[in-house]
Amino acid sequence: MNNKSNFSSRIGFIFAAAGSAVGLGNIWRFPYLAAKYGGGTFLLIYLILAISFGFTLMITEIAIGRKTGKSVLYAFSALNKKYSFLGVLASIVPMIIFPYYCVIGGWVAKYFVTYITNPVKGSINGNYFDGFITQVYQPIFWLSLFILATTIIVMLGVEKGIEKASKFLMPFLVVLSIGLAVYMFTLKDAKQGVLYYLMPDMSRFSFQAVLAAMGQLFYSMSLAMGIMVTYGSYVSKKENLEASVRNIELFDTAIAFVSGLIIVPAVFAFSGGDENVLTAGAGLMFITLPEVFANLKLGTLIGTAFFLLVLFAALTSAISLMETIVAVLQDKFKIKRIPACLLVALVAFIIGIPSSLGFGIWSGIKILDLSILDFFDFISNAVLMPIVAFLTCIFVGYVIKPDTLIEEVEESAAFKSKKIYVIVIKYIAPVLILLILISSILNTFGIITL
Ligand code: PHE
Repeated sequence: MNNKSNFSSRIGFIFAAAGSAVGLGNIWRFPYLAAKYGGGTFLLIYLILAISFGFTLMITEIAIGRKTGKSVLYAFSALNKKYSFLGVLASIVPMIIFPYYCVIGGWVAKYFVTYITNPVKGSINGNYFDGFITQVYQPIFWLSLFILATTIIVMLGVEKGIEKASKFLMPFLVVLSIGLAVYMFTLKDAKQGVLYYLMPDMSRFSFQAVLAAMGQLFYSMSLAMGIMVTYGSYVSKKENLEASVRNIELFDTAIAFVSGLIIVPAVFAFSGGDENVLTAGAGLMFITLPEVFANLKLGTLIGTAFFLLVLFAALTSAISLMETIVAVLQDKFKIKRIPACLLVALVAFIIGIPSSLGFGIWSGIKILDLSILDFFDFISNAVLMPIVAFLTCIFVGYVIKPDTLIEEVEESAAFKSKKIYVIVIKYIAPVLILLILISSILNTFGIITL
């Protein structure tokens, strides 16, 4: 093993990886996609894809990490020298995502603190959101706080920082989300929303629903950005990888599902069944939901709990992004963890500033007609991630061959799904990923709508 740091226990690894997977994507994106693409039908498609496609990609990355014991920058080249470019490409993804992810993390932190300091009911609304994100210093201040919190945890290391934080934050997150879902269920008119969320509606089943489910799965399971390779390099050879990946998937999917139970019925009841309200992207979380909370009896308390949930989810995802970058720097420049963390924090802060200002004084700057933050999001999620995932499948399926990784998985326990693994990695996944790549680019340019 090249990396000295390790997870101390299986549960620590599962919580840390699940912490990465459970993020903003689970809480606001999954519910609205499910609502849009036929409720139960979408849930079913998502589930099938998660246990086949998602499972395959995740176990691949973790096995590559554990086999090589290297950061993502060198993991691919350790298996085949010619593929060192794939390590470079995969390392770039978290470097692009981390700064802007922290900008949104800062917004969440600001909302949480505003709720806890007991605002006047209804004062957090659309005007509040616009008033906040268009400012210069306020969002940058919250960005710096969010980076600071992430940095402190990553600085403490894999076992004492990441594992400990995840072991505390993730169970708390589960309790909070279930509690909120139960509360929402007691609201008047909630049942209709729950039905809308869960009832399969085959008329909404379409190829686009499948693509949307796949894109979501990809992002939600933190794939193709080197994170699972990095975390895999900290896993002991004794760990049963297949069982761990099944647990991580279950965790991620369950939180996404429960988030839908929190959001869909509440918004549905509030908007009188207007579906458009549900599809409002970032506005859903920062504008519509606060307006829903303002109308609830325990609104301030619910708002506080909800933003704490989102904050924890965002923090554990940011930690995994930062750790991936720090591991790359440590490997590349042979520097210690603390200087690597400080460097990443500083650079991320500087690069995050334009994304933040892109909603205010720099809102005139558009790249490909996108705001600065959306542009970074597009390049990483819609372009680089599918490319990295596609090349990873080709690399494993045809260059190093699936058997190399199957042997790695079998170091600790039998690999029960290995037959299906080989079929998915060689044939199904590459085709599906190419389709995601093409469709998400067409979607961004408005040629099709997903
Ligand atoms: N998996 C996260 C989510 O669902 C996305 C993410 C992971 C973002 C890791 C950044 C880093 O929101």
